[in-house]
Amino acid sequence: MEILKTIKELKSKLILIDGSLGFVPTMGALHKGHLSLLKSARKENEILVASLFLNPKQFSPDEDFHNYPRNIEKDISIFSDSGVDFVFMPDEDQVYPKGFSTFINNLEGGVFEGEFRDRHFEGVLTVVAKLINIVNPKRIYLGEKDAQQLFLIKKMLEDLNFDVIVRPVETIRESNGLACSSRNSYFSRKEFVDAGNIYQSLLKVCTLWKEGENDSSRLKQEFQKNLEKLDDMEIQYVEIVDPDTFKIINSLKNIKKSILIVAVIFKGIRLIDNIILD
Ligand code: PAF
Repeated sequence: MEILKTIKELKSKLILIDGSLGFVPTMGALHKGHLSLLKSARKENEILVASLFLNPKQFSPDEDFHNYPRNIEKDISIFSDSGVDFVFMPDEDQVYPKGFSTFINNLEGGVFEGEFRDRHFEGVLTVVAKLINIVNPKRIYLGEKDAQQLFLIKKMLEDLNFDVIVRPVETIRESNGLACSSRNSYFSRKEFVDAGNIYQSLLKVCTLWKEGENDSSRLKQEFQKNLEKLDDMEIQYVEIVDPDTFKIINSLKNIKKSILIVAVIFKGIRLIDNIILD
């Protein structure tokens, strides 16, 4: 495995490569969710490239960019154990040189995550577009946990005619159901256990829907009711949307597939999760 810090170095290696190239972009602090992305990418491609870049442009000023977990040595050994061929690990000025001023935005990105995280998606779409142009992969691997991010990246690639296949990878969960996230490391043991209630509440909504409840408001109330018992829990949003358009669905009558998306702040830590109602 080679670690490359500049675009020039990386390109000089990739130009010599013949064969399908899979790409896993990350911000480091790797967990089981990333392992699953790397595993899928390793299986399907001849060459595997991963990036490790903690993208400052996708953090709002009030977010945890400066405290975000960083564990470069551990990340590198995970990449190596996962069969990564090249790790692209640029400094900030490689990605955003002085005078950088072009950003990619999506007019529909101002809702849900976009409402609570100022300019977040602008930062995500811009960095992903840049990384794809640098790496030029055949396939890119993204987690389904970040459902709105996945939707907006797919939309960008389609709208701007990028020639890359998106491979969504299923959310990986801890034994209590909590979706794996780099931010889970902020929790104490007890908080971690309690945070499992988020997924348990999503499952309860799913059960209610399977029993025939089609009214979105009642399904959303079920989620809220289940989490009310937890101290220091604030629900930022809970919505049911069409997975192909991310438009809100009010009645699930005759709807075959939808997705319940949620964001909560538990003990000061912001978490997102979702479940597909299929
Ligand atoms: O999902 C993430 O880790 C990030 O948003 C991504 C896609 C690596 C872009 O920085």
